[in-house]
Amino acid sequence: MRKYIIAGNWKMFKTRGEAVNFFLSVIDKLPSIDKVDSVICPQSPILRDLVKRQGENLRVGAQNVHFADAGAYTGEISASLLEELGVAYVIIGHSERRAMFNETDEAVNLKIKQALAFNLSPIVCVGESLSVREAGETKKFVSSQVAKALDGIEKEDVMGLVFAYEPIWAIGTGKTATPEIAEETCKDIRDTIKDLYDIETAEAVRIQYGGSVNPKNIDELLSEPDIDGALIGGASLNPDSFVEMVNAALNH
Ligand code: 13P
Repeated sequence: MRKYIIAGNWKMFKTRGEAVNFFLSVIDKLPSIDKVDSVICPQSPILRDLVKRQGENLRVGAQNVHFADAGAYTGEISASLLEELGVAYVIIGHSERRAMFNETDEAVNLKIKQALAFNLSPIVCVGESLSVREAGETKKFVSSQVAKALDGIEKEDVMGLVFAYEPIWAIGTGKTATPEIAEETCKDIRDTIKDLYDIETAEAVRIQYGGSVNPKNIDELLSEPDIDGALIGGASLNPDSFVEMVNAALNH
């Protein structure tokens, strides 16, 4: 049985005060981490503030990490610093970073390796654009992203990874993928991992769906066999809806 993982990607939203208030209001309402993993990924300057306030039922993740140990990389964040701050997860390869910050499949691969070396759990994002989907190339495109992300990574490390399938056309648009469409590609991701490694590895990896997830549609998405959680943008900013979505995972 794979444990569900519900993660909020706050992107470039919330002040420090708003973030702390959010934590104070949700912390007593979330289930134990034994039952569901819940994660919030805020802007990096407030990671420490939130790590201090996380309970046994909520973990903090970063939205990016650099692949080098240290160096002249203005504006970037090192894995060693994230580890020192007590951050548990890191989102790697989000489509916004791929599109706007030139994050390539090769960079994603190096970042995963760097995160693993510093005990950070990667949440690796993959997903196709509308034009790729309309061309019928989704499976090929997403499988290629998965294979390139995993290049040179050992089975034992792969088993602990979280993938997030986020179709770009569903992000921030209110156009959620139907559960069937989301399941189809999440299964393709698992099959790709099976082909690259073996069934044991594929069955261990957790795969989230992301793209306009909200308290109304999360239940049907989590009902799908290959969807093990959600990576949520907009709807994770509201404490009540975040709590509702994490608790929804208890019903599955
Ligand atoms: P929305 O939930 O706002 O569509 O964002 C999804 C996302 O990009 C999470 O990483």
